[in-house]
Amino acid sequence: MAEESFPVTTLVLPVTPGGDPAAVEQAARLVRAGRLVAFPTETVYGLGADATSTDAVERIFAAKQRPHSDPLIVHLAAAAALPSVAQEPPPLAWALAERFWPGPLTLVLRRAEGIPAVVAAGGPTVGVRVPAHAVARELIARAGVPIAAPSANRFMHTSPTTAAHVLADLDGRVDCVLDAGPCSVGVESTVLDLTRDPPRILRPGGVTFEALRALVPNVEAPTRSTPALGGGEAPAILPAPGQLERHYAPRARVVVFDAQGPAALAAIVREAERYLARGERVGALLPDEEAAALAGTGAHIQTLGPGNDLAEVSRRLYAALRAVDELAPTVILSHTFGTSGLGLAVWDRLRRAAGGSLRSVAAEDDAQP
Ligand code: TXA
Ligand code: MG
Repeated sequence: MAEESFPVTTLVLPVTPGGDPAAVEQAARLVRAGRLVAFPTETVYGLGADATSTDAVERIFAAKQRPHSDPLIVHLAAAAALPSVAQEPPPLAWALAERFWPGPLTLVLRRAEGIPAVVAAGGPTVGVRVPAHAVARELIARAGVPIAAPSANRFMHTSPTTAAHVLADLDGRVDCVLDAGPCSVGVESTVLDLTRDPPRILRPGGVTFEALRALVPNVEAPTRSTPALGGGEAPAILPAPGQLERHYAPRARVVVFDAQGPAALAAIVREAERYLARGERVGALLPDEEAAALAGTGAHIQTLGPGNDLAEVSRRLYAALRAVDELAPTVILSHTFGTSGLGLAVWDRLRRAAGGSLRSVAAEDDAQP
C-alpha cells in the first residue's frame, strides 16, 4: 500500500470498558468498510482490520511499517467461530479454548481458506485468539468478521497499553481509536504452536507456562532452559516468526541486569552513578520498594508496583518504559523479576527492549574491582 494513503484524520471514540453500542457500532462499520480501528484488549491495544480482506490487512502493514514476514493474530468474538479461521482444529485446541478463552492465549493452527495468506506471512498456519475485553468482543461481533490485529504501535516500538500510546505512534495513520482506558494485563498474549508435537510456546505472555503445563504436560517452554523445567542455565528464547531480538525498544539505550534483590539493585546504583558522574541523564524502572536507592541522585525513576506483584509489574511495564523514555535519558536501567509465572513474559520483554541481551550482575562486579 502506497505511503500517500496517509494521513487520515484519526477519530477517537471514548467507550466505557463494559462496551458502548453506538461508538462500537461506528467503529464496526469502519472495519466492514476495510478501514483500520485500534481497539482495547486485556493485553495491549490492537490495530484491527477485517481479517478476510487482503486490502484491509495490507493497510495494517502500511500503517505500522511492519514487514510482511511478521504474521498477524486473528481475533474472534467466541471460540465457536474457530473453524472459519483454522482448518480442523484438533481436540487440544478446543480444550485450551475452553480453559483459557476469552483470554491472553494465541493458538497457532492450520490456516483456513477464508483467511488470506498476507495475514500469516504467506505460511500455512494462523494465530488466533478470543480476547477477554468486552469492547474487543463487541467490536468483532458487530463487524461480523474476524479481526486481524497486531499491537497498535509502530514496528519495533513499545506496545501500547492506553489510547494515548496508540496516538503517539499512529495518529493520522489509523481511522479510529476506541479508548477504554488502560489495559489490565499489560503484556501480550502467550503464543502456543499447536501445529507441532509437542506443542511449543513461541512467545511467553499473559497465560503462564505453568498454567499451560497443567493442561498440556508435554508443552515446550519458549526457552532452551527454564528454572520451571528444572534447568539451571539462563533461559534463551528460541527463534520464532516475527520474534525479533530487538523489540519493544525505547529510543534510549536499555541496560537490564538479570537478577533480583540487593545485588541487582547495587549494580543499578553503580551503573547510574557512572552515567550521572559524566553529566548524562539516567532513567530507571524499579519496583516500589527499591526506588529510594536512587532518590536524590537526579535519575528519573518510574516505579512498577511491588516487586512481588508480577501482575502489577506486567500491567505497568510498557507505560513506564514510554514515560521514562520521554525524558530522553542516555540510558534506562532495570532488572528482571525472575522467570516463573508472569516473570517470564517480563523477562522476555525487558530482554528485547535491551536489544536481545541481559547483563549479569557477576560480570558487573568483575568490571568494578
Ligand atoms: O496480546 C496480543 O497478542 C496482542 C493483542 C492485540 O491481541 N497482539 C499482538 O500482536 O501482540 P503482534 O502482531 O504484536 O504479535 C504477534 C506475534 C507475531 O510477531 C508472531 O511472533 C506470532 O505472534 N504469530 C502470529 N501468528 C503466527 C503464526 N501463524 N505462526 C507463528 N507465530 C505467529
Ligand atoms: Mg507487537
